[in-house]
Amino acid sequence: MTTVYLNGEFKPLAEASINVLDRGFTFGDGIYEVIPVFNRKIFRFDEHLQRLENSLKAIYMDNPLTKEDWSAIFNQLIDGLEEKDQSIYLQITRGVSERDHDIALADKPTIFAMSRPIVKKDLSSGIKTITSEDIRWQYCDIKAITLLASVLLRHKAKEQGAKEAILVRDGYITEGAASNVFLVEGDTVYTPPKNKHVLPGITRDLVIEILSKNDINIIEAPIELAQLLRADEVWITSSTWEIVPVVELDNKPVGKGCTGPMWEKANQLYQQFKKEI
Ligand code: PDD
Repeated sequence: MTTVYLNGEFKPLAEASINVLDRGFTFGDGIYEVIPVFNRKIFRFDEHLQRLENSLKAIYMDNPLTKEDWSAIFNQLIDGLEEKDQSIYLQITRGVSERDHDIALADKPTIFAMSRPIVKKDLSSGIKTITSEDIRWQYCDIKAITLLASVLLRHKAKEQGAKEAILVRDGYITEGAASNVFLVEGDTVYTPPKNKHVLPGITRDLVIEILSKNDINIIEAPIELAQLLRADEVWITSSTWEIVPVVELDNKPVGKGCTGPMWEKANQLYQQFKKEI
């Protein structure tokens, strides 16, 4: 039986319900976080909380709880599962109001959190991806629950036998439908800079930190589609997938069509980092 947290209470998932007039339901008016837990420890807690804070601020909401409150809630959810590696899902909506766009009508946020085991799929031999126009809105730096565009993009990838869609806006790579993108050219790693069209991925930032510390050239710069298509290696990153090599892009091999040495190195450093926390 899965126990979840909803508005101050822990209860069985089947008993957790929300009002149909919740603005998360009627407007997609809310934000979320996905926070990995490795070996029962919350990974990059401060960074995830900071991003949560930024998302809330961007939609004119205050953080309803303190860091200590969040930590206590997450740890209770973690303790409820046997698995050592988990993924916490946290969603905050503006709460219940009559169906009116005016945000002043809602005065109490809805807070929901649950933890699920990370079911590790072995993607270490690489995945297929497609490229697609970035059809999302202009505030992709907010981790908003309004994910219809990403859902459609992932579906488009799946229809073409691929696992992820790498998004292109005005000729430049932004990110994946639910991941950030890296590429390798020679001995240099590139990733698009953070801006309104890119979610500031916690894994992305950590990969940059780890590569820099290990004297691997990492450049944050705009990436044209042509640069992606001729890259030696392409990777995508996210909290639950970690660093995944891309071996096929739009039905063409990336580099030699298999995982590359720079990914091997980055992944090994990342796994090492996880072990040391
Ligand atoms: N998605 N970009 C987008 C659009 C994302 O949705 C995600 C993660 C990332 C990677 O961010 P991070 O490294 O902090 O997980 C980048 C999560 C996992 C999701 O929506 O399930």
